[in-house]
Amino acid sequence: MFHSSLPARSGTSLSNSRHAGRTFLVGAAFALLCIAVKAQKPSDPWMDTKLPAGQRAELVLKQMTLDEKIQLVHGSGWGVLREGAYVAPGNNGGAGFVPGIPRLHIPDINLADSAVGVRMAALDSRYATLLPSVLGLAATWDPLAGHLYGDVIGRELRDQGYNMSIGGGVDLMREPRNGRNFEYAGEDPLLAGTEVGNLIAGVQSNRIIGDVKHYAFNDQETNRNTVNVLLDRRDMRETDLLTFQIAVAIGRPLATMCSYNRIEGDYACENDYTLNKVLKGAFGFKGFVLSDWDGTHSTVKSALNGLDMEQPSANFFGPALKQAVEAGTVPTPRLDDMVQRILYSLFASGAIDDPPARRVVDPFRGEKDAQHIAEEAIVLLQNTHNILPLSKNGGSIAVIGSHADVGVLSGGGSAQVDSPGGNAINPSEGASPWGKPIYFPSAPLEFIREKAPQSNIQYNSGDDITAAAAFAAKSDTVVLFLHQWQSEGQDSPTLSLPDNQDALVEAVAKANPRTIVVLENGGPVSMPWATHVAAILESWYPGIGGGEAIANILFGDVNPSGKLPATFAARDADLPYPHVPGLTEKTKNNGMNAHSDAVAEQEKNPTVDYNIQGLMVGYKWFQVEHKMPLFAFGHGLSYTTFAYSALSVDHATATATISIQNTGKLAGTDVAQLYATLPSASGEPFRRLVGWQRVTLAPGESKVVTITADPTLLSIFDVSTDSWERLPGQYLFEAGTASDDLPLHTTITLP
Ligand code: BGC
Repeated sequence: MFHSSLPARSGTSLSNSRHAGRTFLVGAAFALLCIAVKAQKPSDPWMDTKLPAGQRAELVLKQMTLDEKIQLVHGSGWGVLREGAYVAPGNNGGAGFVPGIPRLHIPDINLADSAVGVRMAALDSRYATLLPSVLGLAATWDPLAGHLYGDVIGRELRDQGYNMSIGGGVDLMREPRNGRNFEYAGEDPLLAGTEVGNLIAGVQSNRIIGDVKHYAFNDQETNRNTVNVLLDRRDMRETDLLTFQIAVAIGRPLATMCSYNRIEGDYACENDYTLNKVLKGAFGFKGFVLSDWDGTHSTVKSALNGLDMEQPSANFFGPALKQAVEAGTVPTPRLDDMVQRILYSLFASGAIDDPPARRVVDPFRGEKDAQHIAEEAIVLLQNTHNILPLSKNGGSIAVIGSHADVGVLSGGGSAQVDSPGGNAINPSEGASPWGKPIYFPSAPLEFIREKAPQSNIQYNSGDDITAAAAFAAKSDTVVLFLHQWQSEGQDSPTLSLPDNQDALVEAVAKANPRTIVVLENGGPVSMPWATHVAAILESWYPGIGGGEAIANILFGDVNPSGKLPATFAARDADLPYPHVPGLTEKTKNNGMNAHSDAVAEQEKNPTVDYNIQGLMVGYKWFQVEHKMPLFAFGHGLSYTTFAYSALSVDHATATATISIQNTGKLAGTDVAQLYATLPSASGEPFRRLVGWQRVTLAPGESKVVTITADPTLLSIFDVSTDSWERLPGQYLFEAGTASDDLPLHTTITLP
């Protein structure tokens, strides 16, 4: 804030001596103040930036009173999230706020929801970039895109004055109808953990605290606050927990948000096994655990079992915790450990040494980055007779449906980013009314028109199926946009597209077989009409650069390279649970009223028994059950073709080399995928992804790519020794361009 007075001083002219004199006095006083502040810092040993973060945290801890310690381990209430709730001074307008301790230079912690961009920016007339969904990010199979994604979030958080992100969702996709799948990174532990780990590293590269959430097994929204998840421990470690393990190892998040649900009977925020034993023990997590909002259920049990901070209130970790510490039911060293972890995160992130300085967010930079990620994320699922890319020269195109004339769809709930100018389909509604689909002003129609100025391009809403079909019949080609809105607080009842859209596609495709479908959806959907349309483009929720990214792909300015991070089943009946467990008329809407009625609507003691699918999440289930997916994990086409040859795997290092050639006429990028099947003694008779490599090739060009199989992925988790173990025996390695297109294989014996 003082910076604004500096240019005035340097701009003072000698001819204005009175002003100059006053300025000098102000300047001198300011300089003295700076000296005083500077002089104070070295005398506080924890402000020595050369000391390790842990040591600095210990030094502060020694200075703190019991009340100060308690102050750091809980939030200050619902704040801006609930109308009428107290908003603490210093709250920056985010979901959470913990007041700092100025006498010790401990800053306020301002936490912002930021799953796919910073939430609630419009509240303070700020701007935030809407990125593609995290599931879209996972479809890039590009760790650099993950880092860029987090970097956009981190820098905009800083620009808005936040020092902590509460994004980083990485729950494994066990339930393809989960309303929050768009916040997560799909069904494979290695892919999801790698993308979100890089995302977290990108956030934290901006010197703020990043987190990973919702730990763990919050794999459906139905009954999310009460549901008890059952799963064998070995299966836990090899699936959902492995995903977090990889994300934590790569991203080194300084915070973990524990989830609402229960695991083996205990709430996730008071679960000794997942928090103390696995996260803080096996994963070596050094940061702090905060509860999901109102996800704390006890004082002593939570404190002893690993929770470090209650959010957003002080129901259990305020006066009740103080009493418990005084009574000795929570030992002082445990309270000190909680505080130490929070302080460690503040020092290690840089939030203390380099606090965020507010400035206006650069929307152009954000949009460019979001568009780049979207262009890598969009998956070409089907392209019969190479109907795509479209010609830019003449002809007529009917654009139909899903408000493609005004914008692109985004996901709802606490991941909702505010749309600039309000909901693009109804600006008077405001930027982000809870519980309503919000469109962002990136109109595919506009960009499609820009690409083909000589073509006759008209739009029809698709609301009236008969009219849409008649409209489609009159054009050479149809681009039909379809939507599936999803949100925190509710799962989709089926894989089917809502709003009678299956009937719309059938009618349009019948009227014009040159129909290209563009999907804007949260997670996998069924497509009973797939063979009736010419092409299908999966754009996820494509973000603020989405309209342009879609047009670039439709017209071939960008060659698609995205690959599915999740299996698309043909029908609900093929899933481990044909129906979302516990989803009824009563429970279909868990928290659409901004948390307030979240628990009231839920069953009191429901269970989800994940042992039914166990280790076989996603494509593993389809392989073992001999079911054909509609589109397989890893699938994604290009406008060029690639040939794979010469797989060899080194016995000592489990490193594979594969030769790949671009056999088509266009430059393109493919994702070479390596899968392994463990020896039969493992009892795990399915392939799993063990590594991949994105490779860009000019027409005719060949490259040899090297992929080292991740050693943990070649192991099983042995519960009796509580460790990973690689079994001796025969390992089948397969390589290719998708989990259902693996032309190369070799078997090696590992000791
Ligand atoms: C969500 C969290 C979110 C929190 C604060 C909860 O309902 O599950 O992901 O960070 O609200 O908005």
